[in-house]
Amino acid sequence: MHGGKKRGSDVLANLPMLKIGAHTPKYPIIQGGMGVKVSSSRLAGAVAANGGIGTIASVGLACDHPLFDGGNYFDINEIAMSEAVEAARTRAPAGVIAVNCMTALTDYDRQVKSACAAGVDIIFSGAGLPMKLPEYTKDFPDVALVPIVSSVRAADLVIRKWKRQYDRLPDAIVVETPLYAGGHLGATRMEHVTDSAFSLEHVVPELVKYLEDNSEADIPVIGGGGIWDRADMDGIFALGARGVQMGTRFVCAEECDASDRFKQAYIDAKEEDITVIMSPVGIPGRALKTPFLEKYMSGGARSKPCMAACLSHCKYLENGETFCIAQALVDAYLGDWENGLFFAGSNAWRCSKIDTVAGIFEELAG
Ligand SMILES: Cc1cc2nc3c(=O)[nH]c(=O)nc-3n(C[C@H](O)[C@H](O)[C@H](O)COP(=O)(O)O)c2cc1C
Repeated sequence: MHGGKKRGSDVLANLPMLKIGAHTPKYPIIQGGMGVKVSSSRLAGAVAANGGIGTIASVGLACDHPLFDGGNYFDINEIAMSEAVEAARTRAPAGVIAVNCMTALTDYDRQVKSACAAGVDIIFSGAGLPMKLPEYTKDFPDVALVPIVSSVRAADLVIRKWKRQYDRLPDAIVVETPLYAGGHLGATRMEHVTDSAFSLEHVVPELVKYLEDNSEADIPVIGGGGIWDRADMDGIFALGARGVQMGTRFVCAEECDASDRFKQAYIDAKEEDITVIMSPVGIPGRALKTPFLEKYMSGGARSKPCMAACLSHCKYLENGETFCIAQALVDAYLGDWENGLFFAGSNAWRCSKIDTVAGIFEELAG
C-alpha cells in the first residue's frame, strides 16, 4: 500500500523476521501505543523511521487539539486521528505506522474507522477483547489486525469469533504480561498481576503451540511487558515470539510526545515508586506513585469532573467512585506531577537519561 517498505531480505540475520499482514519492518520491534498522547505522531513516526513499528495511541487525541471546546470530544478525536496518522507518515514515509485502539473506549468503533480511513497500516487492539474489530475495518481489508491478549484462552476466543463471524484471522497476536507492563493490564483481578500463569515464559510458548496446532495461517506471536534490552528481547524470541512490544523503554526518548516533566518523572523514579492500582475501568493499571495516586490509595483523592464520558464502563461516571482517568492522564501528559496519573511499566526506574529513538534502536538491534 505504501511503497518502498523494507522487506524480509533486509531484516538482520540475528533477529527474527516479523511479518504482519503485508508489512515487514526492518526490526521486529513494536513501540506499544501509550495514551494519553505519550505516543502520538512524533514518537510513532520516529520509531517507524528507524525501522520499528511506531504506534499512535488513539485514546484522548482530542485533549489538546485547538478545535476541542469541551463538548465535541468524539468529533475532534476523529480529526486528531487523521492528523496524527498523516503526521507520523510524513516523518516515516516508508515506515510501518500503527494505531492502538482500546476496546474499552466509548468511541472505539469511530477511532478504528478513522485510523483506517487515514491510511494506517496496522491496528493493535486490547483493553478487553476486540471481538468486533473486523466488522469495523471491513471496508479496509489491507489494514492488518492484531489483538493484544494476556492468555491463550483470550486468543482462542478472539480467533474463534473472528473466524466464525468474519472469516478473518488475526495478522499477529501480542501477548502482554500484567507482571511488568505499563498502563492498563490484561488482568481482571489484582491477584493475576503477580500470577506466573500470566508470564511471557508461560503464555508465549503455549500460544505458539496452540497456533501451530490449530491455525491454517502463520500467525506470529509478539511478546510485551518488561522488555528493556537486547538480552530481554532474545529471551522472548527464544520462547518462539517473532516480535517484541516495548512501551516504557521509549518514554524517555527525546521524540516521545509527553512533556519533559513526564519523562523526568521516569528518570527520578525508584523501583519502589512503581505501583499497581485498580483503575476506574475496573482493571488493574501500573503507574508511578504521584501525590495524586498516594491520595487515591489512601481514599482521599478528589477528582476533576468527567472530561468526556470516554469509557464504556467507568466507575467514576457510574457512581462517583474513583476518579476521571482521562483527565488524570491528560494532566500527566502535560506534566502535572501533583495531579497526574503517570502510567509506567515496572522498568520505569531503569530510565536514567533522555535518549534518541535512533540511539535506542542502535543499542537494541546493533
Ligand atoms: C505510559 C503508558 C501508557 C500506555 N497506554 C496504553 C494504551 O493506551 N493502550 C494500550 O493498549 N496499552 C498501553 N500501554 C501499554 C504499552 O503499549 C506496552 O504494551 C507496555 O507498556 C509494554 O510493557 P513495557 O512498558 O514494560 O515495555 C501503556 C504503557 C505505558 C507505559
